[in-house]
Amino acid sequence: MSYKAKFKVWRGEGGEGRLEDFTVEVNEGEVVLDIIHRLQATQAPDLAVRWNCKAGKCGSCSMEINGKPRLGCMTRMSTFDEDETITVTPMRTFPVIKDLVTDVSYNYQKAREIPSFTPPAGVRPGEYRMKQVDVERSQEFRKCIECFMCNNVCHVIRDHEENKTNFSGPRFLMRIAELDMHPYDVADRQEAAQEEHGLGYCNITKCCTEVCPEHIKITDNALIPMKERVVDRKYDPLVWLGNKILRR
Ligand code: SF4
Ligand code: F3S
Ligand code: FES
Repeated sequence: MSYKAKFKVWRGEGGEGRLEDFTVEVNEGEVVLDIIHRLQATQAPDLAVRWNCKAGKCGSCSMEINGKPRLGCMTRMSTFDEDETITVTPMRTFPVIKDLVTDVSYNYQKAREIPSFTPPAGVRPGEYRMKQVDVERSQEFRKCIECFMCNNVCHVIRDHEENKTNFSGPRFLMRIAELDMHPYDVADRQEAAQEEHGLGYCNITKCCTEVCPEHIKITDNALIPMKERVVDRKYDPLVWLGNKILRR
């Protein structure tokens, strides 16, 4: 069963843009990305969109659909009423390159600022022995497809460009938490999370968790435990005394 849907798609580049109206055919089983591709094929050949796998696994097709961050390839047209106008815009937190394609290099910069897994000296790959519970804990975080929709939706940077320097966003605070929970990681992740990556800016609104297409419990399983570890350490009398002595 086909029908004609009304779409408003953001078009523009170089800081300028507008919503453009389209009426476009929709067929059974299609997703929003199919419709964007149909627009490219029939009405707007220069419409820019980033995508790769069309299977919800590459994290490329992040966009905002009716104002909500979604993967275009995983958003079924059947979730909308046939007479509903569907508005498709680029992720708001990152600069637009063209149409629906944003410059997500902020995220790669933040990724580079996190020191990689740091095992103790003398322990070689193949010698790590971990409990199953530790493996499972980090496996949840490893499901991340780097769609950056959590960073896009977090109000700390969505509404405050000036915070981007000091805040790495939920995706990378989660990465730091994952490393901090790793039984073989010896780097000091807690001070870095707080001082360099802006953990304190997060006021646990959980918007990041709500948009994650992999259903990772970013706030409950990564950010809140990381905050608790940082606080425990700050108010641990032995750590406090140690810091006092070292600062003298
Ligand atoms: Fe996307 Fe979830 Fe990874 Fe954030 S944590 S980048 S929302 S997959
Ligand atoms: Fe932002 Fe998620 Fe915290 S949306 S405020 S990082 S809980
Ligand atoms: Fe890969 Fe949508 S195209 S996640």
